[in-house]
Amino acid sequence: MEPDGTGIWRKLISEFNSRTPGVRVRIVEGPPATNAREDLYSTSFLSGTSSFDIVYCDVIWVAKFAAAGWLRDLTSRLSQEDREDFLAMELSAGSYRGRLYRIPAFTDAGLLYYRKDLVPAPPRTFDELVEQARKYQTKERLGFLWQGKQYEGLITAYLEILWGFGGDWIDPEKRQTFLDEPAAVQALDFLKSTIGSISPPGVTGYIEEDTRLLFQSGRAVFLRNWPYVWTLMKRSNAPVAEKAAYAPMVHAPGQSSAATLGGWGFAISSYCPNPDGAWRFVDFITRREQLALVQQHMGRIPSRKSLQPAEFLPIAEIVRMRPAIPEYAQASDILQRWVSAALTGRVTCEKALREAARETRLLLKG
Ligand code: GLC
Repeated sequence: MEPDGTGIWRKLISEFNSRTPGVRVRIVEGPPATNAREDLYSTSFLSGTSSFDIVYCDVIWVAKFAAAGWLRDLTSRLSQEDREDFLAMELSAGSYRGRLYRIPAFTDAGLLYYRKDLVPAPPRTFDELVEQARKYQTKERLGFLWQGKQYEGLITAYLEILWGFGGDWIDPEKRQTFLDEPAAVQALDFLKSTIGSISPPGVTGYIEEDTRLLFQSGRAVFLRNWPYVWTLMKRSNAPVAEKAAYAPMVHAPGQSSAATLGGWGFAISSYCPNPDGAWRFVDFITRREQLALVQQHMGRIPSRKSLQPAEFLPIAEIVRMRPAIPEYAQASDILQRWVSAALTGRVTCEKALREAARETRLLLKG
């Protein structure tokens, strides 16, 4: 799993272990970046004898892991009551070819945090964002923070900009890519133009936590990040907590806001020798009580309708999924490499996307 910063995962696991004789769950903490943990799982599954019985599974891994035969089909394990309580989009995000492989736990969607003590009304367009960031940034306070390191987080941030310009990445049904269309170049040009103007040069090395800590200590006007920031900011008693608010990501005139759908759930490895024991854990950890506790501690938004915070509903309406294709990890890797090369000035935005489109077409054809 992710590093257990708050200790809540350990607490829940030891509670499960003490009330379930005969089944013992042990947590393995991996690196914070999702793609690094995906590599760990994949390497282990590829060896044919997995070291992991249960997968704490990002929404984007489902198609690959299921297509490879690495996950157990959990369709018939889910009760009707749970099926009705989980968000429909989460159940479909956990499915592959009509079968359910991942029980949803938490839903993520990209948000634009802003300082409501400075900014009178949140920006709606890219131009307004730039204008306000310029106006309120100072020597100590950065304009706009986002995740620019070469990793999956960069894809989630870039996609919101791309969709905001009316573009798209991959149509999973038709297996087509649109990366060399004008909207994709406009989106990358936009991100690139923020570096050194409203975003610090170091942004190309940042992941979620780097940007949260800066924003939380009052060092930025705008931040693109996930809902967990909201809770952690409040819990930290940071002076900035009272001064922050969030809004949907901005868009180009005539287009609309989009939020990348993220999220985590639990799956069971096909190699697991005790699937019933594993299911007892997955069933326990995705119950209301446990999800509510993690929500309190880590700020994650549970994927159950009965636990949805009202303020999240407008954002849930604008979420969009990353393409659910078995080759997701490779497609993302192609885009990560080229977007990062453009952002760090190694190639032009246009060339980067032309190359990314070419490699992606080869991948989708194969
Ligand atoms: C969050 C999202 C996940 C996404 C990751 C990217 O953890 O929930 O879906 O892949 O961020 O950094």
